[in-house]
Amino acid sequence: MDVYEAVDSRRAVRAFSDEPIPKEVLERVLTAATRAPSSGNLQPWRVYVVTGEPLAELKRRATARALAGDAGDEREYPMYPAGLASPYLDRFAAAAAQRYKALGIERDAPDRPMKIAALNSGAFGAPVVLFCYLDRTMGPGQWGDAGMYLQTVMLLLRAEGLHSCPQVMWTMYRKTVSQIVGADDGLVLFCGVSVGFEKEGMPRLRTGRADMTETVSFLGV
Ligand SMILES: Cc1cc2nc3c(=O)[nH]c(=O)nc-3n(C[C@H](O)[C@H](O)[C@H](O)COP(=O)(O)O)c2cc1C
Repeated sequence: MDVYEAVDSRRAVRAFSDEPIPKEVLERVLTAATRAPSSGNLQPWRVYVVTGEPLAELKRRATARALAGDAGDEREYPMYPAGLASPYLDRFAAAAAQRYKALGIERDAPDRPMKIAALNSGAFGAPVVLFCYLDRTMGPGQWGDAGMYLQTVMLLLRAEGLHSCPQVMWTMYRKTVSQIVGADDGLVLFCGVSVGFEKEGMPRLRTGRADMTETVSFLGV
């Protein structure tokens, strides 16, 4: 698979089969991903790969919280800036409408937040979730590095025939996640990434994008 195909075929998949992923595949991907760039080569990410019984226990505990309508742990960073305005708000709304329609969650359903949380807390059925933390002392530059690292991981997963879904929603249950993985207070959870083979027969969502010219300016060419 070439890089263009990996980029184009990566989607946030929200229905995984329970087919296990051999450990050597995960090791191959995560070893290759160590080549991701980072400012000053700090490599500020700290990753926990959770599967098997620890993941089953995490899903049970997080889903119980979601179904109880738990608003989640106090956030350590905002999912989005306050007062999100156009064009970001429009892009957010369009993607959310598309996403929840595909998942069969009614826009005006009173239990919509609970349903969304419960789907996320089950990792959409994925057999593996990677949790990416950063040291609490790290700044915005290092958070950017972690994003580059995770995209590298997600593209390499495509080369293995695997799919993924990055999930900031795990930060709602960050204390439960930290209990399971044993992360100490010096680490901040950035997000989880569910990993697995896509479940067959599910609708494939291709989220829209702003035209390249909306976000890119060429100077001198
Ligand atoms: C850091 C990050 C966090 C995300 N968190 C969630 C999440 O909690 N739940 C979810 O269903 N999708 C989540 N997504 C997936 C985005 O909704 C998705 O990437 C976006 O809508 C574009 O769609 P695509 O990835 O399928 O192209 C997240 C993506 C990123 C990069």
